[in-house]
Amino acid sequence: MGMWLSSPILRTQVEKAVGAWLVTDQPHPTEPFPGCWLLPVIDRQALSTNGLTAAIALDESCLQTEWFEVICAGSALETEPARNTVAPFARYKPKDIDNLINILKWNHNDLAQSEMNQRAIDRFSEELIQAYEQSHFLSKLGRFMNCGTQPAEMMQAVCQQIADIMPFAWIGIQFDNSDAVATELAGKLFLVGDLPCNHDLFRQKTIDLIKQIAIDDWTRLHEPQKSELAAMVRSELLIDPITHDNQAIGVLIAGNKVSPDPEISSIETHFLDATADFLGVFHENVCRFEHQNDMFFGTLKALTVAVDAKDHYTHGHSERVGLLSYQLARAMGIDKQKCERIRITGLLHDVGKIGVPEAVLCKQGKLTQEEFDQIKLHTIIGHNILKDIPSMQDILPGVLYHHERWDGRGYPEGLSGENIPILGRTLALADTFDAMSSDRSYRSALPREKVLEEIGRCAGSQFDPELAKLFLTIDLTSYDLMVAYHHSTADFAI
Ligand SMILES: [Fe+2]
Repeated sequence: MGMWLSSPILRTQVEKAVGAWLVTDQPHPTEPFPGCWLLPVIDRQALSTNGLTAAIALDESCLQTEWFEVICAGSALETEPARNTVAPFARYKPKDIDNLINILKWNHNDLAQSEMNQRAIDRFSEELIQAYEQSHFLSKLGRFMNCGTQPAEMMQAVCQQIADIMPFAWIGIQFDNSDAVATELAGKLFLVGDLPCNHDLFRQKTIDLIKQIAIDDWTRLHEPQKSELAAMVRSELLIDPITHDNQAIGVLIAGNKVSPDPEISSIETHFLDATADFLGVFHENVCRFEHQNDMFFGTLKALTVAVDAKDHYTHGHSERVGLLSYQLARAMGIDKQKCERIRITGLLHDVGKIGVPEAVLCKQGKLTQEEFDQIKLHTIIGHNILKDIPSMQDILPGVLYHHERWDGRGYPEGLSGENIPILGRTLALADTFDAMSSDRSYRSALPREKVLEEIGRCAGSQFDPELAKLFLTIDLTSYDLMVAYHHSTADFAI
């Protein structure tokens, strides 16, 4: 039977039939010899490789044809024994062949449908996983945005998150260096992974690109043959603009895909697109925050200028106390964000002087006890002015306790040692240092050497000894520059 089936004549017919089936969507059975049918059989395995195999069905009449004898001769078989061997298999009648054809056709259709369904399920599953990863990723970014994360940290974290789930050798975010970009981000490149070229050059070329971006005809995919930037890294690049008010202020870039499939997929494009949109929204928030912050500091400055203006000898005092308090806090190892709050406390520490008569504040010569009591009230007045403002709660201890002394002989409450909040102890040093270093209505400024000596001498009596020691290590260059600036503007303030 095997030899009969493998006869060259029959094999040629099978190959011819399969060749014809391969170029059509609807392969039909053929009858190369009377009573010998070739039926197309498609299974999933075959569909994904070379497509088709042929089933041979014989009916009884086939055994009596001259073709049967030709096939036997072609296979060097004697006709009669071959007929006896094949006879048990040639049991289909023409009617049966029709049925068999239909069954195979249905079978083929079912398999094809099943194949299609499986592919749709696979595609859907893949999209679902991608959609889940994308939504998980964006919700994670949203959480970052709500935790008061600093913009630069946020950008670095976004690059890392993308690199964790996408098959690229590196991910970068570059911002333009124009005024439209938030100060903290302008001109900066955030990068995770190995960028295979000179970073400075890449950064410059990317900024040039951002300046040329016209959103309407933007192409995300950059090929090495057509894009200078892609040529630098010898890879396709996916570049998505980050926009603010419909203007490109930066780009999110992914390059050097690391995957068996080097083509950048639509899912990857869509993913980066969504992330760039998100970064645009984040940037808008950063700008809004910067604007609010500027307004806040503007208001604070107006308030402190109003206080300092009551006594021209103290011109710029609040700002200098803010600077020294900030520097002392940094020397303590406190993080920058908290130090900024300490600077604000310094700016506002004497706000209560608004409620003290100028005649008392600016009096030349010795104060009476009653006048001194009036001045002492500025700590409580300042506290009362600010205590109902929610965003000022953390600075209240500095305003109320900056005249307390380590030995308990200060005011308003006579607290001592570590019972004085650290903010009060910090401001006490900055306040006294600046007071001693400036001219007053009742005396001239003391020389630097003498001031530092006094700080050291009063450590443990007026000041927290540890903090005083730390204060003496502060670099006073910025302070001296600020003093010079305040001197140069003092005439306008009087
Ligand atoms: Fe004060």
